[in-house]
Amino acid sequence: MKTLIKTCVVALGLATLGSNVAPAQSPGDAQGDVVLRNTITGEAMTLKDGKPGGRDTQAVKTFLKTGQNIYIDDRSCLRNGESLFLTSCSGCHGHLAEGKVGPGLNDNYWTYPLNTSDVGLFSTIWGGANGMMGPHNEDVNPDEILQIIAWVRHLYTGPVKDAAWLNDAQKKNYHPFKEGETFAKNEPGQCKPLEN
Ligand code: HEC
Repeated sequence: MKTLIKTCVVALGLATLGSNVAPAQSPGDAQGDVVLRNTITGEAMTLKDGKPGGRDTQAVKTFLKTGQNIYIDDRSCLRNGESLFLTSCSGCHGHLAEGKVGPGLNDNYWTYPLNTSDVGLFSTIWGGANGMMGPHNEDVNPDEILQIIAWVRHLYTGPVKDAAWLNDAQKKNYHPFKEGETFAKNEPGQCKPLEN
């Protein structure tokens, strides 16, 4: 029995390996190891279409390889993320993501639990969900989405134990969002001030 299981595991492993070797995508859309799936249909999505730019930054490359968003807690990116969120999202989700016609994004209730991972949240923003939550890939490019995600995570006010997107060090450092914080134009960090 044990050997049978072992054989199956090996066979499965080989099958997965096989599918990695045969490229499903042309080299031009190579995306690393993370598969982005539409939140509603589960279909795999590429970053080929949508707003140009913001695809070859270190943050996007790291994200597509590991699923980690290196802009989390970076104040220069939070500054940009706030501004992008206010332009593209707050009209429906509220100024502080407290919810309006769209659901609150600052608490621990998620219609789609996959949004507790940054890959899930990225996919929802890129490809949309139901009804008024259309795809936002024409408004914001991949790098900008990572900045928005950093801001949405920063706005969180729920219990830290449910913040699945934080690693242990980030959980230790967690302070629920309080209104009134301001960011300087020259905030140090990885994100240059937005143009315009
Ligand atoms: C035109 C209004 C509108 C805009 C603009 C909008 N949303 Fe939404 N959003 C909605 C609605 C309505 C839903 C609920 C859809 C559903 O349940 O499928 C939703 C759902 C979501 C969800 C799923 C929440 C959950 O509980 O799982 C996320 C995440 C989200 N929006 C993020 C964003 C972000 C980030 C932006 C800006 C880039 C944005 N939305 C812009 C209306 C909007």
